[in-house]
Amino acid sequence: MSDSGSGGGFETIAWGGDHVRLIDQTLLPAEYRIVELRTVPEICEAIRVLRVRGAPAIGCAAAYGLALRAVHGPEATPEELLPGLESAARELAATRPTAVNLFWAIDRIMSLAGGRSWSSLDELRQALVDDARSIQAEDDAACRAIGAYGAGLLPDPCRILTHCNAGGLATSGYGTAVGVIRAAHEQGKRVRVWVDETRPLLQGARLTAWELSQLEIPATLITDSMAAHVMARGQVDAVVVGADRIAANGDVANKIGTQGVAILAEYFGVPFYVAAPLSTVDLSLPTGAGIPIEERSADEVTTPRGTRFAPELTATLTVYNPAFDVTPAHLIRAIVTEKGVLHPPYGPALARWAGSK
Ligand code: MRU
Repeated sequence: MSDSGSGGGFETIAWGGDHVRLIDQTLLPAEYRIVELRTVPEICEAIRVLRVRGAPAIGCAAAYGLALRAVHGPEATPEELLPGLESAARELAATRPTAVNLFWAIDRIMSLAGGRSWSSLDELRQALVDDARSIQAEDDAACRAIGAYGAGLLPDPCRILTHCNAGGLATSGYGTAVGVIRAAHEQGKRVRVWVDETRPLLQGARLTAWELSQLEIPATLITDSMAAHVMARGQVDAVVVGADRIAANGDVANKIGTQGVAILAEYFGVPFYVAAPLSTVDLSLPTGAGIPIEERSADEVTTPRGTRFAPELTATLTVYNPAFDVTPAHLIRAIVTEKGVLHPPYGPALARWAGSK
């Protein structure tokens, strides 16, 4: 159990004093293995290959990465440590481009480090460790508040469709979209979940299905292409997903395939909700058009988990593997944050709430 109280029976990420412990999510559900990381390159590798993934969780990992750099650095004074931290911040920021929580957490730690003078190196080190731990604790509290607000949107009984994994594994422990579902379940609402498998990396099948089993919340796994069928048959009452970055107008970047689910939900009259902490809001981007979309390797599509699904690539056969897409704000019925539920138009409320986050 996480010391920030995940409540899901597992510990996504934790500070270990001189190392970071995290679940290696590339191995789930076949194997539950905790890895211990001690260096910034190890944290960067873990983020890049998705040992730790999900917007809030990679923010926590990056913050801990900077704390590790401070704790293990060879420097003798705070002034000497700062350039080392800056270079670590650049390495961490280069790991994945879409989830803004990564950059938000790095900026927060770096502003703290460079924002005042320190009486000793130990004081600076301790402040960075404490703030990284606060980022995780605040995310846990935010997710629980999101869960409570979001659960109020769901009828009883409710059949919810979710895409990717926006659960405890993607956050400090409680989850955003899955947090909404589990809060409703904890309130005694009769919830049932349609879990999109989420090609190509199967975060739905491997991670959300695993989490919901741990929580004993009834769930049915479907392939992504089945979502229209279950909606057309009137078997979905609400869609709830997480977010990697929310632009100032409410456009939402989330796992590839989310936009298609939102279009289906609109067509079939199913409410489409986004659950995310305010650390996911990027007020510097007026619309989702400016959100950088990560492209990942062709192997993830052609050769998932080492099994070849497609012919060798040639001059005439290529692969396109964007990891995220952008759902326009007009398809989103509400955005659930830790401060409450936002309804369209999102711009003014996001500016008010995220501006003071
Ligand atoms: O590529 P991933 O697995 O990091 O993508 C994760 C998602 O898209 C999640 O839905 C999002 O980060 C929200 S997590 C609370």
